[in-house]
Amino acid sequence: MAKLTLDGNEIEAEAGAPLVEVIKQNGTFISNLCYVDGLQPYAGCRTCLVEVEGARGLQLACTSRVNEGMVVRTDTAQVLDARQAVLSIINANHSDRCLTCHRRVHCQPGDICLRDDTVTHRCLTCAKNYRCELQTTNEMLQMANYEPWLGEDRTYYESEPPEADRANPFLEFDPQMCIICTRCVRACDELRHTGAVTLAGRGFDTRIAFGAGGAIHESNCDFCGSCIDVCPTATLLEKPNKWIAKTETWVSTTCNSCSVGCTLSMGVRNGKVVMVKPDRLNPVSFDQICVRGRFHYDAVKTRDRLTRHLVRDGDALSPATLEAAVGAASKKLTDVIKAHGAESVGVLVAPWATNEEAYAAQKLARGLIGTENIDSSAGPVATAVGEALIGAFGTDALQSDLADLVNASTIVVIADDLESSHNVAALRIKDAVVNNGARLVVISSRYGEVCDFIAPPPSGSIMPSPQKVHSAAPTGVWLRPSPGGETATVATLGRILATRLGSEADGPDEAPGIDSDDMARAAEIIQGTGEGTLAIVYAPSAASAALAGLGARAAANLAVTCVGDAASSSLHILPTEANVLGVRDMGVVPGDGARGVEEMLSGGVKALVVVGDNPLMLMPNRDAVEASLKALDALIVIDSLRTETAELADVVFADLPAYGKDGSFVSADRRVGRLMRAEDATGDQRDALETLGELAQSLKASLGKDFDLATDAHDLTNEIAQHVEGYSGATTAAVESGRTRILRGTPSAAQMQPLALPETPATNGGLLLTTSRTLFTSLEGASIKSEEADKMHREEFLELNPADAAALGIGQNRPVILTNGSHEIELSAALTDAVAPGSVFLPLYYEGGVVNRLLPADGAPVTVSVRPA
Ligand code: SF4
Ligand code: SF4
Ligand code: SF4
Ligand code: SF4
Ligand code: FES
Repeated sequence: MAKLTLDGNEIEAEAGAPLVEVIKQNGTFISNLCYVDGLQPYAGCRTCLVEVEGARGLQLACTSRVNEGMVVRTDTAQVLDARQAVLSIINANHSDRCLTCHRRVHCQPGDICLRDDTVTHRCLTCAKNYRCELQTTNEMLQMANYEPWLGEDRTYYESEPPEADRANPFLEFDPQMCIICTRCVRACDELRHTGAVTLAGRGFDTRIAFGAGGAIHESNCDFCGSCIDVCPTATLLEKPNKWIAKTETWVSTTCNSCSVGCTLSMGVRNGKVVMVKPDRLNPVSFDQICVRGRFHYDAVKTRDRLTRHLVRDGDALSPATLEAAVGAASKKLTDVIKAHGAESVGVLVAPWATNEEAYAAQKLARGLIGTENIDSSAGPVATAVGEALIGAFGTDALQSDLADLVNASTIVVIADDLESSHNVAALRIKDAVVNNGARLVVISSRYGEVCDFIAPPPSGSIMPSPQKVHSAAPTGVWLRPSPGGETATVATLGRILATRLGSEADGPDEAPGIDSDDMARAAEIIQGTGEGTLAIVYAPSAASAALAGLGARAAANLAVTCVGDAASSSLHILPTEANVLGVRDMGVVPGDGARGVEEMLSGGVKALVVVGDNPLMLMPNRDAVEASLKALDALIVIDSLRTETAELADVVFADLPAYGKDGSFVSADRRVGRLMRAEDATGDQRDALETLGELAQSLKASLGKDFDLATDAHDLTNEIAQHVEGYSGATTAAVESGRTRILRGTPSAAQMQPLALPETPATNGGLLLTTSRTLFTSLEGASIKSEEADKMHREEFLELNPADAAALGIGQNRPVILTNGSHEIELSAALTDAVAPGSVFLPLYYEGGVVNRLLPADGAPVTVSVRPA
C-alpha cells in the first residue's frame, strides 16, 4: 500500500494502481471519458488531467500510477481550465446545444426548448438524456455558457450526420453521437474477445465501425451489450425501451436463462423492468452478461402473459377468481386422492423454479397430499449426471468454482456449443486463453466459438495489452469426433493419459473420426498442465439422460485420471437450465419406489400439479407425453404463460413473471443467487408461493389433515437453511451477498467408473439428429411459440453440412422436410460447416421444442432423413 494526498486529504491505495481508479474509488469526481476500469488506458480524451506535485505540467490520471508520497490535486482552477478546454473540443464534434446552454439546469424532461429552434438533435431530444456520462461530465466541468466556438464553423452542425443503424432488435448505433473514445472497441476486444467493433478510417474520417463497416447484425457481434455499458454517450444504446429507460430504481437479481447464474441489475420504471445491466455480485459474471441476461426480460410482453386464473369449462379455459380456481383445483385433486390414493398424484417443478417454490411444492406433495411422485422435466438428465458424480466422488455436489476458470492453465471443454448454451462460462474460458495463455482442448462434433480459441486470436486492440499472449502457434486442439462420438473421444483421451501417467488404463483405443496425432496432441496438452490447474468443463445434453449420464462418467473419469482426488474441484458440470441443482437439493426428486417424470408421463399418475414446468416442451417422445397429459383426471398448472402444457390443464393459476419473484437459485458451481422482485403483478397474477399456500389451505380442509406452509419467500429461504442438508449458511442475509456456495459435504476418494460405450450410432444413410440450447432463443418466448422467440431469426433453421446438403440437392435457406419416419417438420435449411457431415442440428427450443417430437423417450440417438420440401 502507498500513502498519497488527494486534494489535501491523506489516503491509502495500492502502490502502482491506476490513479484514475483510486480517485473514483475515493468518491472524488474526475472526468475520464475514454477510460474503462481494469483495462489499459487509451489516453485519448485527455479529460482526466490532474496536478501531480513535482511533475511537469498536468498529468493524465489514467496513465499515472499511484506511488508513495504522491500529492494529487483534482480541484485547482488550472485543472478545471485545462479540462474545460479539452472537453470543448470533444463537444465540438457532438450535439452540444444543451450541454453548453446556460438554461440547462432549468430544463425538465419534455420541456420545449425556447432557445434554439434550428437544431433538432440535442440532449432534450436524446434517449440518453439524464443518464449520460458526457452530459454529467459537462455539468461537473461547468460547461454551461462555455462556447469558444461561437461564430466559427461547427464541425458537428456543419457535417451531414452519418446514418444510424437500427436494423437489429437489441443494439442501436447512432454514430453522430460518437466521441471516438474507443471504449466500445476495447470492451468488445479485451472484455469479450469478440472484436466486432473497430476503429476505422484515419484522421478526420476516423470512426467506429462494426465488422467490415456494415450493419451490426452482419458483424460477429453477439449482442452481449458490453459496449453499451461503457459507451459514455447515446451512440450505443439498448433498443428495447430506450425512450422510457429512465429508471426509478435498480433491483439486484439473478438471470434465469442458464446455470451460470449471472447476477443482474434490473432498472425498473412504473413496476416494469426497462433495462438490464450486469450486477457485479457474482464473481463469475462480474461485469459481463450475455444477450439472454440483458434482453430476455423483454422477450415476452405483459399482454402475452396470463393475467387471470383459468378453469376448464368443457373444451375451453375460462377466467375465474382465485377462490374459484383454488376450489376447482382442490376438488379435482381431492377426488383423485379419494378414488385412487395419494400415490396417484404427481408434482412437477420447473428446472428454473426458485428454491423456495421447489421446497414448498415438494413439502405440499409429501406433507399434505402424501405422494413421493415429485420430479422435474430436467430430472432424468440431472439424475443420470448426479448418479455418475456419486459414483465418482460419493456426492453429486462438485467442489469446483467457475470463478477459477480464468486461472486454469489447461481447459478441456466437452460441450455442443458452450458459447451458446453457457455464454459467460465460455467467456471466462476465453479470458484464460487470451489473458493467461491457458491451453484449450475442445471436444465436440459441432463448431462453437470457443473452437476459435485453440490459438489465441491476435489482439485487435488499439492499445496492446502487456498481459496478452500473442502466439501464432495453436496452443490447443479441437477434437472433432464423428457425430455422437464425444463420449468415446473423452474415454479414449482418458485411456491415453492413464497410459502416459502409468495408471490403470481402460477405454477404447481410438475415437471415431479423430486423427491420432490430434489425440496425442490433446493428451500432451493436458499432461503439460504440470503444476498448473486443469479445468474440465462439461455441458451435458439436455435432450438425453442416457448420453448425459455417460458423458458425465467419462468426464469424471478423465478428471480422476488427471488429478486424482482433486477431480471434484477440476470438473465443472453445467446443467442447461438455471436452477436444476437447487430444485433437486430442495427434494424435487422422486422418493424410493415412487414415480419419476417419465413414469408420471406414461400413465403412472391420474393427477398432476405442475409448478412452472412445461413437459410438453422439454420432454422427449412428445406424442406420448401429450397423450398422457390429456388422459389425466386432473392437471393443475401454475405458470405465468399459457404454455402448451397449460392449454391442456383443468385449472391454470396465473403466476408472477419470472423477474417478479423473490427467492433464490443455485448455479452450476453451487452459488446461491438471490432473486428480488423487480416487476409488479398485472391483473390477478399471484406469486406461485401464495397459490401453493391457498391450495394447501383448501386441500387441508378437504383431506382433513394438519399442515402448515409458509408462503413468504424470505421465510422459506430461512426454513430451507434450517432443514435442507448443506443449506445452513444460506439464510436470507447470506444469500444477499451473492457469494454463498452450497457444497454439501466433502467428496470421498475419487473413483474411476466403468463405461459401457454405445456403438457409434449407425445412421444407415441417414443423418444423426443433434440439438442443444442456442444463444438467442428465449425460453419464455419459445414456450408460447412466439414468432419473436428468436428476435434475431438466426436459430429458426435446420443446420446441415454443405456436403450433405449438396448430396441431397438442398440449397441455402431452402425449405426442407426433416423426418424420423413417423414425424415430419418443415423448415428452412442453413448450410454450415459448423455441423459435422453426417449430422443435422435443430435448436432445442425451436418452435416450442418441436425437436422433442422426434426424440425417443430412452434418449437414444436418432437418425433422421432430410429432403427438399
Ligand atoms: S449523448 Fe448525452 S450529451 Fe449527447 S445529446 Fe445525448 S444526452 Fe446529450
Ligand atoms: S454487443 Fe458485445 S459483441 Fe457486440 S459489439 Fe458490443 S461488446 Fe461487442
Ligand atoms: S460508440 Fe460510444 S464507446 Fe464507442 S467510441 Fe463512440 S462514444 Fe465511445
Ligand atoms: S450466461 Fe447464462 S446466466 Fe449469464 S446472462 Fe447469459 S443466460 Fe444468463
Ligand atoms: S480518461 Fe485519461 S485520457 Fe481519457
